[in-house]
Amino acid sequence: EKGTYPHYMLKEMDEQPTVIRKIIQAYEVEDGQLAIDEDILEALQAADRLYIIAAGTSYHAGLIGKQYFEKMAGIPVEVHISSEFGYNMPLLSEKPLFIFITQSGETADSRQVLVKIKELGYPTLTITNVPGSTLSREADHTLLLHAGPEIAVASTKAYVAQLAVLALAAYVTAQASGKDLTFDLKQELAIAANGIQTIIDSKDVLEDIAEDYLKIARNAFFIGRNIDFYVSLEGALKLKEISYIQAEGFAGGELKHGTIALIEEGTPVFALVTQEAVSLNIRGNVKEVAARGAYPCIISMAGVDEDGDRLVIPQVNELLTPLVSVVPLQLISYYAALHRRCDVDKPRNLAKSVTVE
Ligand code: F6R
Repeated sequence: EKGTYPHYMLKEMDEQPTVIRKIIQAYEVEDGQLAIDEDILEALQAADRLYIIAAGTSYHAGLIGKQYFEKMAGIPVEVHISSEFGYNMPLLSEKPLFIFITQSGETADSRQVLVKIKELGYPTLTITNVPGSTLSREADHTLLLHAGPEIAVASTKAYVAQLAVLALAAYVTAQASGKDLTFDLKQELAIAANGIQTIIDSKDVLEDIAEDYLKIARNAFFIGRNIDFYVSLEGALKLKEISYIQAEGFAGGELKHGTIALIEEGTPVFALVTQEAVSLNIRGNVKEVAARGAYPCIISMAGVDEDGDRLVIPQVNELLTPLVSVVPLQLISYYAALHRRCDVDKPRNLAKSVTVE
């Protein structure tokens, strides 16, 4: 039940710190270490390549999951949109493991790929929020998100849960393979949960940004480099879904290869700056669009912030920034939809789980 909340989406965004803490508890074993089922760990370690299959927001989580598995565990990963997989079936490695990321566990496009992969006899793992869902039952293994029911059509807490579980699975696999990890994931996830809480506690700032940038905007851009690029894709999707503002996420460096033609006087451009290594480059991209009249909103992370950034989010581990940086984008979309009198929980033309191909 949404209780005193005006919308499920707001309630579900507020639950995000708790969801991360629940995930830590769910995957913690007696000695306080994080762990996943032995058979899942073996499947991950046995794979020479992971193929992540997903749609929509879950696909965006998969793009970040790739970074986690490659950077922590050293396992190559491909990420595929489920509805496209059938046409462009990649050449498979010797020992693939297929990972289906699906909040509902019912998405027909993703299930279609699972059916095909099972026919081919490859091992499968579903990462889902719904125990007993179709993709959970039909895959060899399941990792649960422990996010609690997600009712709002726009996915928020499930995305953050997907990132946390992907990070956890990558970390545990890396540990088991003797990789040298320089941080304690449990501690870093707890810090991320606190970081999200700080943002949630200052919602009025996000409401102001939404009013300032999006109340009458026709379109909006989200830009970022490296891991911030993937979060910008998710930020754009959230805004499109619930406020009906035409929005696109772009890699900062791609703008000049065409998209910059769309920048007009006052076009809102949200730039994420959480990665120190690319901070100067993305700030350069912001200057380029500003010089063409854009209205930029820099959302940076403490430690890479500069004077004049519109919002500075708390500092977290470099790999975990998406868990925190997505939250202001979710809230900005929510308030933009409210300012524009849109039905936040039930946007037009959308269903919570898409069971047609
Ligand atoms: C976006 C959204 C959709 C879903 C997509 C996949 O807010 O909710 O893009 O992410 O339909 O759904 P699942 O994860 O249930 O397979």
